[in-house]
Amino acid sequence: MTDPASRTAGPKSVFIKTYGCQMNVYDSDRMADALAAQGYVAAESAEAADLVLLNTCHIREKASEKVFSEIGRLTEIRDGRRAAGVADLMIGITGCVAQAEGEEIVRRAPEVDFVVGPQSYHHLPELVAKAAGRERFATRRETAAAATRAGLVSTDFAIAEKFESLPLPTRAATIARGLTAFLTVQEGCDKFCSFCVVPYTRGSEVSRPVEQVLREAEALVDAGVLELTLLGQNVNAYHGVDAQGRPVGLGELLRRLAALPGLRRLRYTTSHPRDMDDALIEAHRDLDKLMPYLHLPVQSGSDRVLKAMNRRHTRDDYLRLIERIKTVRPDMALSGDFIVGFPGETDAEFEETLSLVREVGYASAYTFKYSTRPGTPGAGFPGQVEEAVKSERLDRLLALTTEQMRSFGRACVGRTLDVLLEKPGRLAGQLGGRSPYLQAVHVEAPAGLMGTIQRVEITGAGNNSISGKIVTDTEHRTASLVESVAG
Ligand code: 5AD
Ligand code: SF4
Repeated sequence: MTDPASRTAGPKSVFIKTYGCQMNVYDSDRMADALAAQGYVAAESAEAADLVLLNTCHIREKASEKVFSEIGRLTEIRDGRRAAGVADLMIGITGCVAQAEGEEIVRRAPEVDFVVGPQSYHHLPELVAKAAGRERFATRRETAAAATRAGLVSTDFAIAEKFESLPLPTRAATIARGLTAFLTVQEGCDKFCSFCVVPYTRGSEVSRPVEQVLREAEALVDAGVLELTLLGQNVNAYHGVDAQGRPVGLGELLRRLAALPGLRRLRYTTSHPRDMDDALIEAHRDLDKLMPYLHLPVQSGSDRVLKAMNRRHTRDDYLRLIERIKTVRPDMALSGDFIVGFPGETDAEFEETLSLVREVGYASAYTFKYSTRPGTPGAGFPGQVEEAVKSERLDRLLALTTEQMRSFGRACVGRTLDVLLEKPGRLAGQLGGRSPYLQAVHVEAPAGLMGTIQRVEITGAGNNSISGKIVTDTEHRTASLVESVAG
């Protein structure tokens, strides 16, 4: 830990620790932007910061619990500073745990200065100012009660207002964040899968208007962003309105974004199988900029389990959907989320998940043990599965999906892929990049090629990445000469 007294005076600084999904990553950046407008600069660690925000995740029990242990650690830092008589530390809790357990947090951890849910981030500067001016109380109970009374727990649902009020990132901030950027276009979920807290923590589906999305995308591209990933808990349920008040789905939104000249690549996540409509599938046929990688969670391969999960599609619906997508885009790489040990899941039903995974063949996969979430229907279902059984199933599924990911990498060897070179490489003389299929690629390349998309011949495949060398202009030229001679 840094010596508290060694912190120098200067502008106030904020450290944001982000847990959970990409939507939280996006939100953390927007909160940093809102605070930057108030003069806050980024700190590199909690130890070096005046304000720490924990942007929390509530999706599984473990993710939720981390918050309270981290608050304990921050409180120690603060106590150290108070004892040394140096500047205080302000602690704010944001994200889905804040939304779900706002008042409970200040009761359990009155050290927390304020709590703000994902729909209320535009109130952040105001909350920071209020918390700074607040009196200190002698007891924990007084502190917690006063925090609630003082409006330091902000968990309203007002997504539309939030996006209108949050500032766009500055050009400098965008440049510092790199060549790829997230852009939230939709929040919330109306699907109510029986295991999931999202419809309760993020509220019902809201889509941002088309013009607002285009303006933000233009600003990002203008600052050098080459690849945009549109985000939403249920992104393919996007239904924004355009300037003429016409409804626009995700397929059409992607078409409008693809028309931005400087933008090179588009992706979107996370999708629900029921919302993959024809317009979206056709976008994959028509838009070169739309990358051939689709994260399409299925959760289980058993129809009985899918029904109990309230997924509202069958195994066969999912397989037929993938067939349709592959008809228009044969090289589409698929990724999925899977839950093992959902209440009542039998060995035979779990085997159906394995067989579905074998049938689809995933380029990547996210596997989870079912975690009981209070307030969701699944929490009350009979037949909760023992932890040991869940672990054994997870191991087997993970072994299969890991092998599939590696064999997908091996199958790329010998192919030439477009790679976006986005960061310094692992070794000298290398750059790190991403393939169209979202694989990490280590490329032998001079530093000057950072920020470009290059044709890369894939020569190797490791456990979590692939590697290759740039197909040089000379090789291009030779190849085209050979073609023209042959032609
Ligand atoms: N237990 C385990 N995994 C869950 N997910 C969502 N809720 C739970 C839960 N209660 C997983 C799903 C979802 C991903 C984001 O997290 O697979 O697609
Ligand atoms: Fe949760 Fe289901 Fe909505 Fe995804 S679709 S956020 S799993 S309720």
